[in-house]
Amino acid sequence: MTAIRIGLCGIGTVGGGVLELLGRNGEVLAGRAGAPLEIVHVGARRDREGVATGSATVSRDVLAVAADPAVDILVEAIGGTEDAHELVSRALKAGKHVVTANKALIAEHGNELLALAEAQGVSLRFEAAVAGGIPIIKALREGLAANRVSWLAGIINGTGNFILTGMAEEEREFADVLAEAQALGYAEADPTFDVEGIDAAHKLVILAAIAFNTSLRFDAVYTEGISALTPEDLAYADELGYVVKHLGVARETGDGLELRVHPTLLPKELLLAKVAGVKNAVLVEGDAVGPTLYYGAGAGGGATASAVMADVIDLARELSRGQRCPLPSLGLPMGELRELPI
Ligand code: HSE
Repeated sequence: MTAIRIGLCGIGTVGGGVLELLGRNGEVLAGRAGAPLEIVHVGARRDREGVATGSATVSRDVLAVAADPAVDILVEAIGGTEDAHELVSRALKAGKHVVTANKALIAEHGNELLALAEAQGVSLRFEAAVAGGIPIIKALREGLAANRVSWLAGIINGTGNFILTGMAEEEREFADVLAEAQALGYAEADPTFDVEGIDAAHKLVILAAIAFNTSLRFDAVYTEGISALTPEDLAYADELGYVVKHLGVARETGDGLELRVHPTLLPKELLLAKVAGVKNAVLVEGDAVGPTLYYGAGAGGGATASAVMADVIDLARELSRGQRCPLPSLGLPMGELRELPI
């Protein structure tokens, strides 16, 4: 059976997780994909201790992976926006499918890149970009496709929730818990993105685009982080019967779309208030199904690799059976998305 050939760019937390997962579950994944999944080319600026790249070609210049005719699906796990933008554009122009965990890239350049993918007749998938291992993109786009979503709200930054939990439950200092989140591989390369709400804003924009069939509007999110909170704030909230959680909220109102990210007081008895540590949770209200809640690991190599490989398997299923019925990544073709007032 012809293998589906994967080019993996980046072997940090996410890329390393992909290699580990494929090494551990390769046979099962191949069965589901309809063909063996083989990493044929790795793009990494440097080696990483403990990460084995097997028989794959290794290039220091990640753009070599986008240009490699032997690659069917490129997995972008280099992070950042500038280099990743060039890498993904080149791969799409070369007719490759792309899977990315890069929420900043999709939130800020997704409109252009998704239109490019559509024009090229290939797919750009990003399940891993939001809420780590929780299949929230698939749930919104496919599982809830019969609903009108009125609002969604979620804890969508694992590092921020890890910090708030450590401060509230163990009375630890902000900087101390942040350092631990960094050591565990949860935080962004620039942790300002986590603690100032930028990462959550990136993710919220992606969820909102799918839930409300709009284009990606990162420019329109009200963004406030958790860096000004102190253990005393959390203790006062506790005395009053509340927990402070950092939420992303998207709502369609009569006037348009509301997008906001900020610390919020939640009554302790709510399920969202009980989400602790690096876990994420997203609550979605659909008109037919009512409220639904999605919960799981929001960051870390294993959880993110789980979502990356889910996208790879989806694409491989089509490739291995010679069927192409590309699902628009935001649920609708780019030209059919709405522009709501914000
Ligand atoms: N830094 C991100 C977080 C990683 O903590 O949620 C997963 O997107």
